[in-house]
Amino acid sequence: MAKDTPKIFLRVGASIQVDKSTSKALADSVQAAWQAEHPNGKIVTRELGLQPFPSRAWIYAACAERMPVEEWKPEHGAAIELAKGLADEVINADSVVVTSPLYNWSISEHLKTWVDLLLTDMRLSPYGGTAPLKDKPMVLIVTRGGDYRKGSPREGWDHGTPWIKRVFSEVFGMDLQLVEADLTLAEINPAMAKLRSTAQEIRELAHKQATAHGKTLSAGAKK
Ligand SMILES: Cc1cc2nc3c(=O)[nH]c(=O)nc-3n(C[C@H](O)[C@H](O)[C@H](O)COP(=O)(O)O)c2cc1C
Repeated sequence: MAKDTPKIFLRVGASIQVDKSTSKALADSVQAAWQAEHPNGKIVTRELGLQPFPSRAWIYAACAERMPVEEWKPEHGAAIELAKGLADEVINADSVVVTSPLYNWSISEHLKTWVDLLLTDMRLSPYGGTAPLKDKPMVLIVTRGGDYRKGSPREGWDHGTPWIKRVFSEVFGMDLQLVEADLTLAEINPAMAKLRSTAQEIRELAHKQATAHGKTLSAGAKK
């Protein structure tokens, strides 16, 4: 009898920090819970903040789609190949975790470029695509240095999370679970010293949620 194909866990990180990243630590919790269920599973990792795409990749990919192939420069072909490879990675994954640290009240430009490149692949297009990501389980991890929780003065200033949630859950149709951690800078910012115990509670709760969602991810698509 043929062996079962190993399950694939795709992990896409967007922190620009090499270490001490809260979103990386939370993604580790998701991954550990998933690996406990799939010890022979395959982990595919992309750290977008540490290995960014060429700055003009998306421009070439988006323009290539609107030009006759005979007019393409080598850069157009390379960008289309890159986008196809990225789309294949998400399509082939059984479970996906994406981290989205808040930078200047929005998502990182590298994460945006990753999504923009995915959207150039016809299979993932909302206009005539084949919806290959529908119902695929995904965890989105959002980390924010400040406090954007309900009732806080900065409530509504996170302009990135609503966008990324809409793309993955509504455009791609993925089964998205969210983990949010606010006040991540309280530990290192003296001006936030009074908020440290709240920050710790938030972090502990986020890790519990990450572990729970990691277990849910390991069960695979519901439908
Ligand atoms: C350039 C830069 C801009 C940032 N902008 C914001 C911001 O607008 N709002 C906020 O709450 N935190 C902001 N932060 C803090 C990060 O959101 C916070 O450190 C978060 O934990 C980063 O994720 P990580 O720990 O996974 O690296 C910023 C950090 C950097 C380096």
